[in-house]
Amino acid sequence: MRELIRSDLPQLEQILIATGAFNGPEVACAMELLEIVLNDPTQSDYLVTVAEHAGKVCGYILYGPVPVTEGNFDIYWIATDPAVQGQGMGRKLMEHAEADARKRGARMVCLETSSQGGYERTRTFYERAGYVMESCIRDFYKPGDDRLTYVKRVFL
Ligand SMILES: CC(C)(COP(=O)(O)OP(=O)(O)OC[C@H]1O[C@@H](n2cnc3c(N)ncnc32)[C@H](O)[C@@H]1OP(=O)(O)O)[C@@H](O)C(=O)NCCC(=O)NCCS
Repeated sequence: MRELIRSDLPQLEQILIATGAFNGPEVACAMELLEIVLNDPTQSDYLVTVAEHAGKVCGYILYGPVPVTEGNFDIYWIATDPAVQGQGMGRKLMEHAEADARKRGARMVCLETSSQGGYERTRTFYERAGYVMESCIRDFYKPGDDRLTYVKRVFL
């Protein structure tokens, strides 16, 4: 687990595309957030941890304190290379981000995901990591595609 460096960007973009979970605008949005982190060392809204294994970048997590809240952190993005999925890398990234959030005063961590069938594995991943679904906004992303918010409150 290490900090983001500029030369990670092409590999992270490849991973985002390879997951098959994100459309073009979503990949562009994810890359934009990584650029913000690299281009503005003074910003503190977004934190990134990159996972590297055997010299190869294999995933990342982007998280940060939610502005105008007290001790609420959000996990904005997480992705692991399909070649390593199911081997514990996602969980390690999550635990790393949670431990860091806790050091920074987190009370709770939230994350959002889609209700669509393609995200079932992702939802299982969050539930196994101790997150509980606390809200659902129906048709948020598009008709029939709800926004689910998962919360973990171990930081009280
Ligand atoms: C979600 C994601 C980050 C998980 O990463 P990962 O490296 O596969 O995660 P892990 O190997 O640490 O797996 C942890 C848990 O995920 C679940 N999981 C892993 N592989 C699974 C599979 N093949 N089927 C169902 N659940 C699975 C399990 O619940 C596992 O818990 P367990 O170890 O107690 O059995 C990864 O699948 C991914 O990049 N998905 C596409 C992108 C995405 O949806 N991101 C989230 C939205 S921003």
